[in-house]
Amino acid sequence: MTSTVVRAPAKINLGLSVGPLRDDGFHELATVYMALDLHDTVRVSSRDDDQVTVTVQADVQEGDEAVAVPLGPDNLAVRAVELLRTAAGITDGVDLAIRKVIPVAGGMAGGSSDAAAALVGANHVWGLGWDREALADLAAELGSDVPFLLHGGVGIGTGRGEKISPVLSRGRYGFIVAVASEGLSTPSVYAEFDRLEPEPEPPRIAPELMAALRGHDTERLGEHLANDLEAAALSLRPELDRVLQIGVDAGALAGIVSGSGPTCVFLLEDDGDAALLTTALWAAPGCADVIHTHGPAAGARIVS
Ligand code: C5P
Repeated sequence: MTSTVVRAPAKINLGLSVGPLRDDGFHELATVYMALDLHDTVRVSSRDDDQVTVTVQADVQEGDEAVAVPLGPDNLAVRAVELLRTAAGITDGVDLAIRKVIPVAGGMAGGSSDAAAALVGANHVWGLGWDREALADLAAELGSDVPFLLHGGVGIGTGRGEKISPVLSRGRYGFIVAVASEGLSTPSVYAEFDRLEPEPEPPRIAPELMAALRGHDTERLGEHLANDLEAAALSLRPELDRVLQIGVDAGALAGIVSGSGPTCVFLLEDDGDAALLTTALWAAPGCADVIHTHGPAAGARIVS
């Protein structure tokens, strides 16, 4: 049996501009992704037969989040390995063991990242030798965020988010992540966006955000963090407004809802501010966990 462990990073959208709904049911996006140190771990082990199995271990804080992770063929990591073996024309099986740390249904692409990691791990244990670009084509079929999770670092996503180009970015940034006790479904947040914003402008990335990343200007980055899905997430979860306020009052440079939410992410001016912010957010409404993390981090990578 061959076995490999792959790190699957979380992502945040430093800027998320949402445009019109397309005929295929997706919205045209322009987004700046950043991968974070916060990560799940996916162990991929070869099998002697053609079965694909998945087990999930989660550090549950409140409620049973693991229940929200499908354990059968609907699991995105299972779909990823099924897609890869069909494309490679093989019938080999694998066991996937996912250790979840990224909030489930939290707007940080945990499921998408597990799928990216499963592609990297299965490619390795099956000895296929596909390069990252070939895997990225399959990744796009699995979900809009999956190609970026292979790529990692900082990247611009266009199309429905799946077309990735690298971004010139210097230095690292500290973040505090406030995890909500109950997840939000991405389609329902986009549907609320459509209700609130029936005729959105074409999506665009603020040049100031790109300049802040180029110059490692943390304060400027904080001023230009933006998420067009935030109003929709706040409309579905009004208490998140209070969470954002608590974080900013406790010293964060800025706070935004991550992707489709409900996780909120706060940019730190200095890692020394983390303790105060963590204590304040623990008392925030509906907050199940508070995590200190950094970015950018690598995309899905083999660690052993
Ligand atoms: O691509 P992914 O499977 O992550 O998308 C989940 C859902 O989020 C889609 O079914 C769609 O409702 C919504 N979505 C969207 N526009 C995008 C990305 C996602 O409307 N660009």
